[in-house]
Amino acid sequence: MKRRQFNRYLGQGLAAVGLSPLLTQCDRSDHRSSQSGRPYQSLPRLTSQNGVLEASLTAQSQSQTIGLSYSGHAPGPILEARPGDTVRLTLLNELDTSTNLHFHGLHISPEIDNVFREVAAGSSYTYEFQIPLSHPAITGWYHPHYHGLVAQQVFGGLAGPIIIRSDLDDIPEIQQAEEALLVLQDFDSALVKSPEILSPLAKRWGREGSILLASGQQNPIIEIPQKGLLRLRLINASASRIYQLQLRDHPWHLIATDRGAIAEPIELDTLSLSPGERAELLIPGQLDSGDYPILSLPYDRGVSEMIATMGDAAKQIPGLAMPQTTAIATLRYVPRQRTVALPLPKQLIPVESMRLPDATREFVLNHGNDASTNDTGFIINGKSFKMGRVNTQVSLNTVEDWRIINKASMDHPFHLHTNRFQVLERNGQPESLRAWKDTVAIGGYETVTLRVKFEDFIGRTVYHCHILDHEDQGMMGIVEIT
Ligand code: C2O
Ligand code: CU
Ligand code: CU
Repeated sequence: MKRRQFNRYLGQGLAAVGLSPLLTQCDRSDHRSSQSGRPYQSLPRLTSQNGVLEASLTAQSQSQTIGLSYSGHAPGPILEARPGDTVRLTLLNELDTSTNLHFHGLHISPEIDNVFREVAAGSSYTYEFQIPLSHPAITGWYHPHYHGLVAQQVFGGLAGPIIIRSDLDDIPEIQQAEEALLVLQDFDSALVKSPEILSPLAKRWGREGSILLASGQQNPIIEIPQKGLLRLRLINASASRIYQLQLRDHPWHLIATDRGAIAEPIELDTLSLSPGERAELLIPGQLDSGDYPILSLPYDRGVSEMIATMGDAAKQIPGLAMPQTTAIATLRYVPRQRTVALPLPKQLIPVESMRLPDATREFVLNHGNDASTNDTGFIINGKSFKMGRVNTQVSLNTVEDWRIINKASMDHPFHLHTNRFQVLERNGQPESLRAWKDTVAIGGYETVTLRVKFEDFIGRTVYHCHILDHEDQGMMGIVEIT
């Protein structure tokens, strides 16, 4: 891996060190400017060679800068592989706390993608697995999943993309598209530097930072090819923030969700992305020229009213961020040698409907205590997460409908590991888009029904709220597939 310094955690005076052009995008905690920044710079990319992707990532805290990184990169490098490839990834833990890795979005065995594994401070572990031959093209991501420290480590910057190229990448129009990938993170230098200052309130609501970073950059400029297509991948790698994104005055089309392509492009107005969710968009360079910002709009996940009533006092509370509109990136037209506009593909990949379920279950998300554990505050079916306690037993190759009932006023985006699902219904209304998902937004007092088939792998895996402070405080359960 190149030793180039892509770190976004810019300590005071670091620009003088001149490590990278990105470092001049000042990142002080009081800096809220959203004027256009520098040209978008891709994260470093590690691609499989001859069927093998071999890499190592060192989880470390940066000496001169604020925050955590993988081998000096925050976010970490893009890992890229194809179905059938072997991935051999060594995690070296140079943090002073335990950590591990989870491959969010990959359909691999939970015995390998094992979130109960501890990679202790000073030790290392090699994750080795094969991407199944039938694996769809996805935008996934890797991040720590060591229970109790997940929010702190992810908020500190530990996250990176993992891309599988497959079916979707073979579509001719997609092959001709230019590509950009934005890992969305929010940041607060004081809190990242001293996680212990997190206020109990922010821990309860889920920590947020007021600085928005797109692949480590503030409002980078992304080139959109005139008459061409831009394929934009988005990953919400924030610990708690839910994004509502709009591309101002310009069309954009959804082509893929968490677990791969949808059947055909759909023009979007607002794209909502909860922590953990991903989306891929195709943006046709059909206008003449100009700059088009992607705006992050204020969103109320059930805490805004309380923040508003606190007024200015809230600004002082580490881990709370004021709702505001911010440009996360700006698209800028650039001419290309193209006389005829590249059309959008008409068809993508069919999303087959799933057979009727063998069983139906309910999961009630709520705030409350479970006397049998030390975790407090966040429960599923009355229980908080307890290491080694199986909450749900399912059988391999069965289909189940899961009704997720949020009895609380806050949003709790629900994530299932290992297997993908389809959302069938929300508050009694059928879901309009059929898509493969692994994380679903659930607003306060909402009920969502999802359908999942437990395929290919047995073992213990987890489901949880992807507001990571909630997961750390117990909103997680173990499902055993036998
Ligand atoms: Cu993205 Cu269980 O996690
Ligand atoms: Cu996951
Ligand atoms: Cu939650």
